[in-house]
Amino acid sequence: MAKPLSVIIDTDPGIDDAVALLLAWASPELNVLGITTVAGNVELEQCYLNAHRLRQLASRMTPIYSGCSAPILKPLQVTHSIHGRDGLGMSWPRVDVPKSTQHSVDFIIEQALNHKNSPMTLCMLGPLTNLATALILCPEIKEGIKQVVLMGGALESSGNTSPVAEFNFYTDPHAAAKVFDSGLPIVMSPLDVTRQTEVVASWLDAIRSLDTPVCKAVYEMLSAYRSGSGGGLHDPCIVAWLIAPELFTEKRCDVRVEVCGDREGQSVPEWKEDGKVLSLTDVNVDGFLALLKNRIQSL
Ligand code: RIB
Ligand code: CA
Repeated sequence: MAKPLSVIIDTDPGIDDAVALLLAWASPELNVLGITTVAGNVELEQCYLNAHRLRQLASRMTPIYSGCSAPILKPLQVTHSIHGRDGLGMSWPRVDVPKSTQHSVDFIIEQALNHKNSPMTLCMLGPLTNLATALILCPEIKEGIKQVVLMGGALESSGNTSPVAEFNFYTDPHAAAKVFDSGLPIVMSPLDVTRQTEVVASWLDAIRSLDTPVCKAVYEMLSAYRSGSGGGLHDPCIVAWLIAPELFTEKRCDVRVEVCGDREGQSVPEWKEDGKVLSLTDVNVDGFLALLKNRIQSL
């Protein structure tokens, strides 16, 4: 097997983030250097706690960092309707939550500067506040970043937070614009694709029948998530692309992110062969769900 891909996962757990993290931890193709949390689905402190809960569930020791508690300019707007008040939609056993030894932004900067000779991957599952802030503080981090793979945006489909904007880009449009204008190689997984992965009851029942602690937790979280949002497995898609890109089709485009007015957070594509952004366009849903189930049951 090829050398595992070194990756930092930036996240606002959130139930679909939780499944994405478990998929990453279950996949030997990835070497998760660290988890950087950011405010988004729920407040930062809750995201940081949830990352520790998930790490304990997966029996991993990955370092976890606490990051930006609000978007660059906009106030944080949390709605608990989809991920529940605590962000994971179920009750959890107690977990030790040590103080963050570093800010998420500082960890991203430190790791990127240390990886200039072997550039790493950033896997962004929430608002892009941490990465945008790191780029503002230390533009040279670009030399240590091989690619930014992210869940976000809606290119030809409607938004899920405004009629035109997807949640991660709507929450922090200025950060999204900063990242897309940075010139970093971006692979994006927009709602156009992730909405295809709505959880079906039969798949969820198959997860429950596996009867492991991880599968039981995934069943409980996704059951709550389905009732709140229909259950698109938004964040796991981009992790699955890192592991099994053959499950997806892609097209190149340039993307402009709107930052003001009633179109703030909208991601506007210009489809072109030499576009700077590789956007996922379609997914083999059965293959994706089979990969997810096989990997999760291995934890
Ligand atoms: O629009 C879906 C995205 O917003 C996902 O990352 C989900 O976790 C929420 O953060
Ligand atoms: Ca997320």
